[in-house]
Amino acid sequence: MSTHIGAESGQIAPYVLLPGDPYRARWIAETFLEDPQQYNDVRGMLGYTGTYKGVRISAQGSGMGQPSMAIYAQELFEQYDVQAIVRVGTCGALDERVKVRDVILGMAASTDSAMNRPRFGDVTFAPAADFDLLRYCYEAAQEKLLPAVVGGLFSSDQFYNPNTEISATLARYGVLGVEMEAAALYTLAAQFSRRALAVCTVSDHLITGEETTAAERQETFDDMMVMALDAIVRLDREGDGR
Ligand code: HPA
Repeated sequence: MSTHIGAESGQIAPYVLLPGDPYRARWIAETFLEDPQQYNDVRGMLGYTGTYKGVRISAQGSGMGQPSMAIYAQELFEQYDVQAIVRVGTCGALDERVKVRDVILGMAASTDSAMNRPRFGDVTFAPAADFDLLRYCYEAAQEKLLPAVVGGLFSSDQFYNPNTEISATLARYGVLGVEMEAAALYTLAAQFSRRALAVCTVSDHLITGEETTAAERQETFDDMMVMALDAIVRLDREGDGR
């Protein structure tokens, strides 16, 4: 057991899907995993392990925002020896090239968070996705004709940001979407020499004002899960075992 996860060692798979919403973790387990077993309900942050195409995979809720997510990611890497975490969530689009219902594969993550300051002092670390996970996910999307776009994310500590200039500036620098977790996840993966990727369905568009309905979000979530699960299966079969 770790401080926030009530699982015995071995109950969590080497690969973890990490949605913010714990009910999404339950939905992933019930919809995609064979023989899912719940291993956590501490603070209602549900976690399950099952198999997908013969590969053991867990689905764990993380809560919203970098501080909450980082607690779960660190305990998974450090105390349960998790090798790869794929965050599955939503983001807002910052660029007109991206449409609602597209799925952004976060290649790098800029952030307004102070979380990395104690680690790097005056240096600005560049949190980046694991290349293998990223390319396996992109390949899975291409093969299944699913709408994936690769690019930068903005991991903000504020959902309701009063300063809209910041996202406009980041958009000018090619950042595609805003969410709240990827930068801290990538940093922790680097700290523990593990793999991580953030995969985000575009739920709303900050430029066009377009939004998705609940039914549309559900359908795109299905697409996103297929990409993420397939990326993990490819990693398990073809990865270098790191
Ligand atoms: N901001 C931050 N996170 C998000 C957004 C947003 O606009 N949309 C979905 N997740």
